[in-house]
Amino acid sequence: MTETIQISAPGRVNLIGDHTDYTGGLVMPLTLDAYTTVIGQVNTSQIWNLVSRDEPVALSIELPIRDLGSIQPRWGRYIAGVLFELAQLGIEVPGFTGEISTTIPIGSGLSSSAALEIAIARTALSIAHVELPDADIALLCQRAEHIASGVPCGIMDQLCIAVGRPHTATLIDCHTLDVQHIAMPDEIEVVTRFISHRTLAGSEYSDRVTDCHVIEKMIGPLRLANIGDAKNINDQRLFRRARHVISENQRVRDFASALSQKDFGAAGQLMLESHQSLANDFETSNATMDQAVKTMMSEPGILGARMTGGGFGGCIVGIRHRT
Ligand code: GLA
Repeated sequence: MTETIQISAPGRVNLIGDHTDYTGGLVMPLTLDAYTTVIGQVNTSQIWNLVSRDEPVALSIELPIRDLGSIQPRWGRYIAGVLFELAQLGIEVPGFTGEISTTIPIGSGLSSSAALEIAIARTALSIAHVELPDADIALLCQRAEHIASGVPCGIMDQLCIAVGRPHTATLIDCHTLDVQHIAMPDEIEVVTRFISHRTLAGSEYSDRVTDCHVIEKMIGPLRLANIGDAKNINDQRLFRRARHVISENQRVRDFASALSQKDFGAAGQLMLESHQSLANDFETSNATMDQAVKTMMSEPGILGARMTGGGFGGCIVGIRHRT
């Protein structure tokens, strides 16, 4: 009898450090208690046949993949992207028949696509009997996301999901890919609230990535820059973009040390400052999200709140002191 394989990958919420990963900066996300699961069996063809509990149309992908852009339905492109990238590494994956289900809200900025990529990559590696280090799996899935969605995302989502542990934040240096696991203090509860569906596939996210690349041509790597370097930028928009990234990297460091010193008031204040910086300098928030942050701040025990992830909708995140 053919062995049944079942592999899950969680969603993620970012506590602090947004729009820093694609310039090799610092981020501090944690995995959610919500998962995408792939369950199925190897088949004797060279075809991946998948159904999803959340999608009306089934998927059939013939290997090797020649034209990713022709894969239909579109959700299949994330899967095809992963299988394509595995083939680029010379990894031969057999056919597979299975089902996908998820408890991660789709299109809400909680990395449902990265969870799908990691779950598919681990399934494919398992049936190909190949082992890869977590960081390599994350990088492969990041490349898959780039080609599947056209969004030039950083490494945060895929790496957090690949290495994350329950109730533990991952402090990631997106340049070296070093990860520090930081247990969330028992006194603190992380609150994630859905605001609106969003996609990063429009131009806004990639415009921010482009702005950062232009800045780096002017002043060198943003991860090494200080606010004095940013003052050499004459263009006001680019100056504000640089000020966000430079200050956000510092906030991640300060947030990690505030948590370790159990200075939860300071940690909450840093989250609020992060939101202000994303809203005013990086312009990735909107009026609904700003209002949602204000509302959350007025609730009992809430110490800090901010937009989380790419922005332009999605979710906000806060920390609450447990009583
Ligand atoms: C999205 C991207 C990440 C990161 C965040 C913003 O989630 O996938 O790589 O850039 O936006 O921090």
